[in-house]
Amino acid sequence: MSDGSERGVGIADGEDTRALMGGRPLRRVVYSQEEIAARVVTMGREIASAYPEGESLLVLGLLKGSFIFMADLVRHIPRPIQLDFLVASSYGSGTETSGDVRLLYDPEAVLEGRHVLLVEDIVDSGTTLNRLLPMLERRGPTSLEMCALLHKHIAATLVKEPRWVGFDAPREFLIGYGLDHSENYRNLPFIASL
Ligand code: IMP
Ligand code: MG
Repeated sequence: MSDGSERGVGIADGEDTRALMGGRPLRRVVYSQEEIAARVVTMGREIASAYPEGESLLVLGLLKGSFIFMADLVRHIPRPIQLDFLVASSYGSGTETSGDVRLLYDPEAVLEGRHVLLVEDIVDSGTTLNRLLPMLERRGPTSLEMCALLHKHIAATLVKEPRWVGFDAPREFLIGYGLDHSENYRNLPFIASL
C-alpha cells in the first residue's frame, strides 16, 4: 500500500474541482477517484473472504465521514448484509481533535450474536475507536472487526488495529470522499490535501 505523500498527483485544477471547492485552492489530490474505486473493490473481496459464504454481516458506518465509502463498499461485499450507522462526535470545527467522544446516535440494531464490521473513514489519533470499540464489544457480537479507508498510523495506542485498511495515509489534513473540513468538501469525488 502506498502512502500518497511521495506521489505528485498534481493540483486538481479542472473546472468541476474549482466549482466544488468554491474557489479555494487544493494542495494536491492524494487519491484519485479511480484509485479509490479500485481499492474499494479489492477491499470488498478481502472482507467477504474473511466471512464464510452465507454468513450475514452487520455493517456499522461511523457518520458522517464514512457515508460515501460505506455506500461504495457494501456494494462490493458479496455477503448478506444489514447496515446501520452511528454518530460519534469528537471534533469541533477545526482540524485538531478535542479528545472527547460523544455518541449522538446509537444504532438500534442488535449486535449480540452478529458478525459486526465497523466502517471508519480515517484513523487519526485513534480516540474515536478507542472509545467506541470497547462499548460495542460489550454488546456481545460474535465478531467485531473494523475497516478504515485511511489510516494515518499516528495513534499512540489503539485498542485494536483495523483489519482492513484502504490506504496508509499521509499525515496531512485530508478532505473529500466523505471527509470534511468544517463540514465542507465531503462531496469531492477524490481525496485531497487541504
Ligand atoms: P480520531 O479519533 O482522531 O482517530 O479521528 C476521528 C475522526 O476525525 C475521523 O473519523 C474523521 O471524521 C476525523 N478526521 C481525522 N483526521 C481527519 C482528516 O485528515 N480529515 C478529515 N477528517 C479527519
Ligand atoms: Mg469529520
